[in-house]
Amino acid sequence: MGRTALVTGGTRGIGSAIARTLRDAGYTVAASYHGNDLAAEDFKAATGIPVFKWDVADDEACAAAVAKITTAYGPVEILVNNAGITRDAMLHKLTSEHWRAVIDTDLTACFTMCRTVISPMRERGYGRIINISSINGQKGQLGQTNYAAAKAGLLGFTKALALESAAKGVTVNAIAPGYIETDMVADVPPKVLDSIVAQIPVGRLGQPEEIARAVVFLASDDAGFITGSTLTVNGGQYLI
Ligand code: CAA
Ligand code: NAP
Repeated sequence: MGRTALVTGGTRGIGSAIARTLRDAGYTVAASYHGNDLAAEDFKAATGIPVFKWDVADDEACAAAVAKITTAYGPVEILVNNAGITRDAMLHKLTSEHWRAVIDTDLTACFTMCRTVISPMRERGYGRIINISSINGQKGQLGQTNYAAAKAGLLGFTKALALESAAKGVTVNAIAPGYIETDMVADVPPKVLDSIVAQIPVGRLGQPEEIARAVVFLASDDAGFITGSTLTVNGGQYLI
């Protein structure tokens, strides 16, 4: 049995590709989700990867789920903080509720999940933490003050935890995807999405598997000298 990897938000979109690709690379994988039971059941039936339902924004639920996964599959040695949401609106229309929902799910959940696994990783002298940020945390985006703040926050968090963990065999890295073809991007108004794709030098949206392959690399033993880094996978969009 390979090392145990936990992918939050691992039943749809980018997380689903990450979970499958890690499984294909020999890891024992668990995938989490929040509310879409149908997608989770389809994913489980198609892949055989076990799924666990909880809200990553709920501290106690995170601790309980990690304990359950550890009992069933052994300690989590690879944690991919992938679960995320958008609640887009210009700031003058943004509600406190939508600010908090995005900060809680996209940023605070990363703290909670890392806080839950970090001591066992330090004790065993091995761990890989990979945080899924976004190009919009690097460059900002109209309608995303909440999301850009959360995703930029992940980059600082990643660097600080990398420093704390380097001597303990635990690497902590971020991936900043560009626009990837998932349900999340399907919610962008078509006219706006066309204008965004026009600014991507490779001329297309990315595919979830293109992020998954980067995660598998950072999760590998070969990537032990890479920590505190942000790997951008965006078709050159950040250069524009
Ligand atoms: N790029 C360029 N122009 C944009 C834009 C963008 N990302 N977002 C909005 N605009 C423009 C609109 O085209 C519109 O221009 P016109 O007045 O000339 O028509 C103007 O800004 C106002 O937009 P709306 O009329 O749509 O205003 P609204 O208040 O109804 O909605 C909005 C504003 C919520 C920002 C909406 O436009 C929207 O959802 N935009 C997309 C934001 C976006 O890119 N989100 C990314 C989601 S995917 C993701 O987050 C994954 C990731 O990490 C990459
Ligand atoms: P997606 O297709 O909307 O899938 C999101 C996944 O996260 C689903 O499995 C969802 O579960 C889960 N999730 C959402 N909120 C959760 C919560 N509170 N608790 C537990 N699980 C939760 O999204 P995606 O496009 O694959 O994005 C995945 C990650 O990549 C996000 O962090 C996103 O911000 C980031 N990202 C995406 C893009 C892009 O262009 N798509 C670009 C850059 C970064 P349910 O199925 O139950 O809802």
